[in-house]
Amino acid sequence: MRARALLALSMAVLGCASASAPTPTTTPTAKTPARHVGTMSELMADFIYPASDAVFYISSRTPATSEEWMALQAQTLMLAESANLLMMPGRALDQDRWMSDAKLLLEAGEAAYRAAKDRDVAALEALSDQMYESCVTCHRNYRPDYGRPR
Ligand code: HEC
Repeated sequence: MRARALLALSMAVLGCASASAPTPTTTPTAKTPARHVGTMSELMADFIYPASDAVFYISSRTPATSEEWMALQAQTLMLAESANLLMMPGRALDQDRWMSDAKLLLEAGEAAYRAAKDRDVAALEALSDQMYESCVTCHRNYRPDYGRPR
């Protein structure tokens, strides 16, 4: 049952990403077979943003069943691990501020994953602001035109 719920969840995420036809790019400097599949914008819109909603709306969409808690675990794990994807060669925009901004997401995501495993709603509520700050900090520094009038 649990495996099936998780599979359905990851299928939904994959389906969402492939609909926007990402252009695969290689990372010539990396000495690993790892390569990008989604663009930065696709990672944000299809992956990080929907997963973060699970944390931001924890008070009104509190998991009620074991399956829902498993889904929240998967989403918070995705958030934490997505910070590692942002740090990949060819995706990291520099080795200084970008890395420390991404680390904020790694830390908030990891703490949220722990709290989801413990089914600790109060801890997740407390982490919501930290998670939001991690998004906004990097966006202020790197998202084009963010917070500026057009
Ligand atoms: C380490 C940097 C970094 C972090 C952390 C980060 N973002 Fe982003 N985000 C970006 C950049 C850079 C862009 C602009 C991408 C582009 O337009 O190519 C962006 C764009 C976006 C977009 C617009 C995507 C689009 O093009 O439609 C959304 C939505 C978004 N981020 C959500 C989030 C959320 C939610 C979080 C936190 C949970 C987050 N981001 C954390 C760097 C970051």
